[in-house]
Amino acid sequence: MSSHRIIVTVPPYNAPDDSFKELLKQCNLLSDKGTTRDVYEIPGENKVLKAVKKPSNYANWNEIVVWQSLSDQLKPLFAEIFSFSRSGRFLVMEQLDPLSFGEGHNSQRYPRFLSDKVKPQNFGRSRIDPQHIKALDYGCVLLEHDDEFAPFGCAPAAD
Ligand SMILES: Nc1ncnc2c1ncn2[C@@H]1O[C@H](COP(=O)(O)OP(=O)(O)O)[C@@H](O)[C@H]1O
Ligand SMILES: [Mg+2]
Repeated sequence: MSSHRIIVTVPPYNAPDDSFKELLKQCNLLSDKGTTRDVYEIPGENKVLKAVKKPSNYANWNEIVVWQSLSDQLKPLFAEIFSFSRSGRFLVMEQLDPLSFGEGHNSQRYPRFLSDKVKPQNFGRSRIDPQHIKALDYGCVLLEHDDEFAPFGCAPAAD
């Protein structure tokens, strides 16, 4: 019996939603437990497709904005985003493995703006470095920081 490897193409970012709908047809549902998104496994890619199931694409856009604004120091704490559709309805993210039952993530520290840190299901294990736990649902953030004010119109202080 010959084994067939499915070859899929992830559309580049800003491609029309229809291109991602084609990709979706080749994917398998991983979770329909998300609040606003269904998540699909992209065959052979170690990536997931997050497809919005509610009228607003807010959660995907929030993840896009967060990912694009992360410093090099913070990026390793978050599942990488590879692509997203023009409307934000579809987003392609690094696939993480689920944590074992009862496994804490207390040994790693996460930025305060990540609002849902108490839920272990919002975190997963890197497939490249299994010791490494990353945030996979960062569609909701809290921007209130009482200690992070800076004046506008000023050049950053030189080190
Ligand atoms: N990058 C990922 N890798 C593996 N599983 C994921 C990933 N992102 C989401 N999932 C799974 O899909 C579920 C729903 O995704 P999530 O991002 O939490 O959507 P929502 O914001 O709608 O709650 C998660 O709880 C997790 O089980
Ligand atoms: Mg969630």
